[in-house]
Amino acid sequence: LRLAVLVSGSGSNLQALIDAIESGQLPNTRIVLVVSNRAAAFGLQRALEHKIPSIYLPWAKRREESEAKLQVLLDLFEVDLIVLAGFMKIFTPAFITRYPQRIINLHPALLPDDSVGSTYTTSDGTVIPAFRGAHVVPDALKAGVKVTGSTVHYVIPEVDAGPVICREEVRIEEGDTEETLHERIKAVEHRLIVQAVQAHQKQNERG
Ligand code: GRF
Repeated sequence: LRLAVLVSGSGSNLQALIDAIESGQLPNTRIVLVVSNRAAAFGLQRALEHKIPSIYLPWAKRREESEAKLQVLLDLFEVDLIVLAGFMKIFTPAFITRYPQRIINLHPALLPDDSVGSTYTTSDGTVIPAFRGAHVVPDALKAGVKVTGSTVHYVIPEVDAGPVICREEVRIEEGDTEETLHERIKAVEHRLIVQAVQAHQKQNERG
């Protein structure tokens, strides 16, 4: 399984995938390409340190221009699965429909199974909003919910929706700040992203 990992920032989830591959947890999986839309993203340094081809691809106002370049790279590197690991740009529906069940996204909140619903029922039966968008960690804090988490899902044209691959709850503690909460969510994500790639691979082996 040939992965392209797309990042915009620190790339700690990219690191989790690199570590899992290097320790043999993801047999037959390779990261063949890392793409960042930000030149300063630390994820690019991580790729370099592990000798993974990586590129800074600035995101144009007209998204199709950048997507066309990305598509060239994905073809060139014969990518099977695109992993959005903290990639903060939204693809056009036209791009997404070209890669059905071949793009996965990591979202730092709980999204429902039916993929488009506006609520999520936690394991203790509490109904909370399905937080979507780019600020869901502070949104969950502000909403005063007791539980949040992370979801890995296949990408469909609707933003922060699509078939859920795996998901885990994270409790919000007294005194949590955006930073402390996001750190705990990220610790969970580092396991979850590896699980999601494993699950995708199993699914595809079965055909
Ligand atoms: C993760 O929390 C991810 O869910 C969100 O952005 C963060 C990326 O972190 N979309 P990193 O760049 O992998 O460290």
